[in-house]
Amino acid sequence: MCGIFAYTGTKDCREMLVNGLRMLEYRGYDSAGIMALSEESDIFLEKAVGRVSALASKVDEKKWDSIKYTTWIAHTRWATHGGVTVENTHPHISTNERFYVVHNGIIENYKELKKSLSEKYSFYSQTDTEVVAKLVESLYDGNLKSTMEKVVAKLVGAYSLAVVDSENPGEIVGIKLWSPLIVGKSNDWVYISSDINALSNLAESFSILEDNEMVVIENGDYSIFMSWKKVERDAEAVQEGQKIDELGDFTSYTEKEIFDIPAVLENVWSGRIDFKNKSIHNETLDALSDLDIERICIISSGSSYYAGEIWNYFFRKFSWIQASAIISSEFLSDVFIPDSKTLYIFLSQSGETADVRESMKIVKAKRCMTFWIVNVVGSTIARMADLGLYSHAWVEVGVASTKNVIAQIWVLLMMSISLWLKKDLQISDAREIISELSRLPDKISQALMQGPHIKKLAKKYSVYNDMFVLGRNYFYPVAGEASLKIKELSYIHSESYSAGELKHGPLALVSETFPTIVFNPMGKFYAKTISNIQEVSARKGPILGFISSNDTHKELYTDTIELPETSELLSVFTGLVSSYLFALYLAEALERDVDKPRNLAKSVTVE
Ligand code: AGP
Ligand code: GLU
Repeated sequence: MCGIFAYTGTKDCREMLVNGLRMLEYRGYDSAGIMALSEESDIFLEKAVGRVSALASKVDEKKWDSIKYTTWIAHTRWATHGGVTVENTHPHISTNERFYVVHNGIIENYKELKKSLSEKYSFYSQTDTEVVAKLVESLYDGNLKSTMEKVVAKLVGAYSLAVVDSENPGEIVGIKLWSPLIVGKSNDWVYISSDINALSNLAESFSILEDNEMVVIENGDYSIFMSWKKVERDAEAVQEGQKIDELGDFTSYTEKEIFDIPAVLENVWSGRIDFKNKSIHNETLDALSDLDIERICIISSGSSYYAGEIWNYFFRKFSWIQASAIISSEFLSDVFIPDSKTLYIFLSQSGETADVRESMKIVKAKRCMTFWIVNVVGSTIARMADLGLYSHAWVEVGVASTKNVIAQIWVLLMMSISLWLKKDLQISDAREIISELSRLPDKISQALMQGPHIKKLAKKYSVYNDMFVLGRNYFYPVAGEASLKIKELSYIHSESYSAGELKHGPLALVSETFPTIVFNPMGKFYAKTISNIQEVSARKGPILGFISSNDTHKELYTDTIELPETSELLSVFTGLVSSYLFALYLAEALERDVDKPRNLAKSVTVE
């Protein structure tokens, strides 16, 4: 959720700080704040409600150029405790105004701590974080490192923290438990950041902190400690795929990321699939097929959950293995009955989602088989188990997940095909699917060429306040994912249903002003879904169909988006991509901030 960015160096580079913060903004954009310190301990503090740009303009207004600030901590907030106000914006400050703290996570025992600290210290905010600033003051023993050890011993919850002592410029202490923290270095600077995005275009190398590790930046270098022992770890070089691309001619990252999908797919399979020999080469997948797996359970949230459900429909068609997908917060709310023959797959773009991470902890504690599929390299979930694969969708900046969903389904399919091939089952089907999949990037490019037509329709449908999204079988979770995208990007109320369910209640809402979007390409389920469309049409509800060009009932639809001619399996992908464009253009027609929808954050690190 929140983004932390801090650095010390020899030069004053405030622009770099604001840019770094912008790169982290997708983690939360309720408010932003910075604290800067000069070598003579001059303090600059600024906070603003809203985007980093609001903070940047406030900063620009100040006449501060005569002072050279070389130590900085900054934060972009997704509020968990306390409203979106200037007072609640980080950095939080000790009562003696000496210590400054930025935090990502939740301090679960903040109420008890606040109560005991209130006798001596006055509180100005409603946040959980402010107790950390007061604790630093109350436990300060002359050394910020040992003080922070004492502070975190009192905290219950999840945190990554960066702390500055204004009487000791040039030093920053960072520490973490469950929330991510990364330290990076270049010739001139040492940085701390919540994720690699703020660092990737700046640092030459970086290290990812493990839980309970502390990083101390001083004298232009950093050291990592675990319980006072220095940790020796080689820094990793920043890779190309970890850098954020330029926007180019696109109007938003979301749009760019949708148009990137054909290239992403080629990246996902490069070196992993041999289309000529119709085989898959991957050590991790080989290791997986040696395991005694009788069932698969996918645990994930949001779009990653729909990716799991979509795969589940494919998998059930061909496999001897039972599969299920579950929403991670529901997994946490239920009783866990460990099963040694089940492979538990944790699916997450960010690799930081708290519900997924906590589910994985429970499964691991029972020594069950775990596997992750994650996009962000080195993220928490990717470091919790040995076996896993990256979805290789490159950095996804838009808060709405698009290209990564497609990559996730792809990786899951690749995993299934590899299992089928290794177990000598369904070989002909598996090889057929491989050759079909080789055509996918082209088919998706064709779907993307419909952009101008989809834009026109989106403008037309943007006048409605509500819509249903329907699909059957594979297209039921596709409808769920399309509906999620419509909601989060355009703020139009939309609900997804299995097409057959409409008549069991929701049909009551259909009217001339309540449209229905339906996925119904030609295939096994076409005729049944046509009956459901007829039910809507009889009630005069406008119908937008995602259909095949050879659809035999075109007269039933008010409007259509034709999917490229292909198999049912591939039309799941083309249908999804076309619905992403539809949701994006709805949002553009309504002038929404598509990359940063209101109230949301890219990486949800709290339960
Ligand atoms: C969907 O577009 C996202 N905004 C959201 O639902 C996301 O998919 C969910 O929070 C899970 O995130 P993850 O894949 O990073 O775990
Ligand atoms: N709990 C802190 C706040 O509300 C940090 C929130 C977060 O990391 O999402 O300010």
